[in-house]
Amino acid sequence: MAGSKSGEQPGKINSRLENLRNLAPAERLGRVIEATSLGDTERAAFSPGTLPLELANGMIENVIGTFELPVGVATNFTVNGRDYLIPMAVEEPSVVAAASYMARIVRKCGGFQTSSSAPIMRAQVQVLGVTDVHGARARVLRERDAILEAANAKDKVLISLGGGCRDVEVHVFEDTPVGPMMAVHLIVDVRDAMGANTVNTMAETVAPLIEKITGGEVRLRILSNYADLRIARAMVRVTPEALKTDEYSGERIARGIVEACAFAIVDPYRAATHNKGIMNGIDPVVVATGNDWRAIEAGAHVWASRSGRYTSLTNWEIDGKGNLVGTIEMPMALGLVGGATKTHPAARAALKILGVQSAQELAEVTVAVGLAQNMGALRALATEGIQKGHMALHARNIAIVAGATGDEIEKVAAALAADHDVRVDRAKEVLEKLRS
Ligand code: COA
Repeated sequence: MAGSKSGEQPGKINSRLENLRNLAPAERLGRVIEATSLGDTERAAFSPGTLPLELANGMIENVIGTFELPVGVATNFTVNGRDYLIPMAVEEPSVVAAASYMARIVRKCGGFQTSSSAPIMRAQVQVLGVTDVHGARARVLRERDAILEAANAKDKVLISLGGGCRDVEVHVFEDTPVGPMMAVHLIVDVRDAMGANTVNTMAETVAPLIEKITGGEVRLRILSNYADLRIARAMVRVTPEALKTDEYSGERIARGIVEACAFAIVDPYRAATHNKGIMNGIDPVVVATGNDWRAIEAGAHVWASRSGRYTSLTNWEIDGKGNLVGTIEMPMALGLVGGATKTHPAARAALKILGVQSAQELAEVTVAVGLAQNMGALRALATEGIQKGHMALHARNIAIVAGATGDEIEKVAAALAADHDVRVDRAKEVLEKLRS
């Protein structure tokens, strides 16, 4: 039996929903609605949109429905002389606007220039119980060819596409809480895949051979999300002329961006927010294309700490001619084949909008978006402040929360933005006035 009509908070519930796994999604949703005493509004909130329930049910476990996010398209991007429209799935206002705005400035100055390494991932095989870890390391490296052969024996498709296990590294930890430890790394070219499944399978395949060579016991066999060999880079060079606004000179804006970046370079408190702003651009592209945003986040932040101190993922400087030069370089483990990229209809459509031909091209465009996003946030922060643009766009959200519908949304949002007072209670007042 469905509970209340809508909206009430569930009281005390029993989370032991036995046999949920064996039900159809609609039945599961019924059980959850019943257990939480929620109602028709919540039932409808999980209704599938473009992702059919059947497909969703095949993607993860205990599916009860789907969850939608807005998809916006950032405009104006030119990367390596080619124009791109950028699909971004994100809930935060002003992200798409800021990326489009910066891309408009950058395109006047030749656009984004990018490059990337080959799509190389690492798998780790943890080895315990070896006392002569350095000797075992030497033995593993001597057997490199045999390990590569074993790793490459299974995935014929990857080999035929020019990928495969390329090398072996051995990392030695003489002293850990459980004694000496080794990590044998497989260095794998995964071509257009994100690569997790590929390298995990390879790691599991070579494990018995590693045990034989080292005399130890293998435990973990899994990829590393620190994809430090799968790097994408982007660069912009922007003239002061292209940067200037009615209120600020281009030189002032360029200097402000460089100073803002310097803050993130030296201070981890600032770097966390600075890099979050970069991920504001990157994650929405990763999500829209059906890629694994947790993997991208994990890799980004370890990379940002690689010197031993957490710091900025970007650099901003002024060149000899007074131009603002921005660069970004970071791991970018994105795929075009496999996973949700291929199964989710919206991800497939997003990839068509992007028109990228390889995972490397996708990685390069994605970091260009991250650089644009960083530039947008730093420009606003170093001049008028973030709240002006962000809150003006956030005002629409607040208007909706206050109950505005149809034409009322823009009217209430405009009134809130004009007063620089973007709060729900104020929005309710404006709405009441409007309606009376
Ligand atoms: N929708 C889509 N694009 C928008 C937009 C909107 N509502 N508002 C601005 N833009 C983009 C467009 O590309 C526009 O140029 P175009 O229409 O010729 O393509 C460009 O920005 C400049 O438009 P303008 O109206 O002059 O922008 P603005 O000076 O009022 O700036 C912001 C508005 C939001 C772009 C700006 O304040 C900003 O970048 N703020 C920082 C936001 C941020 O970093 N947010 C991250 C989370 S806090």
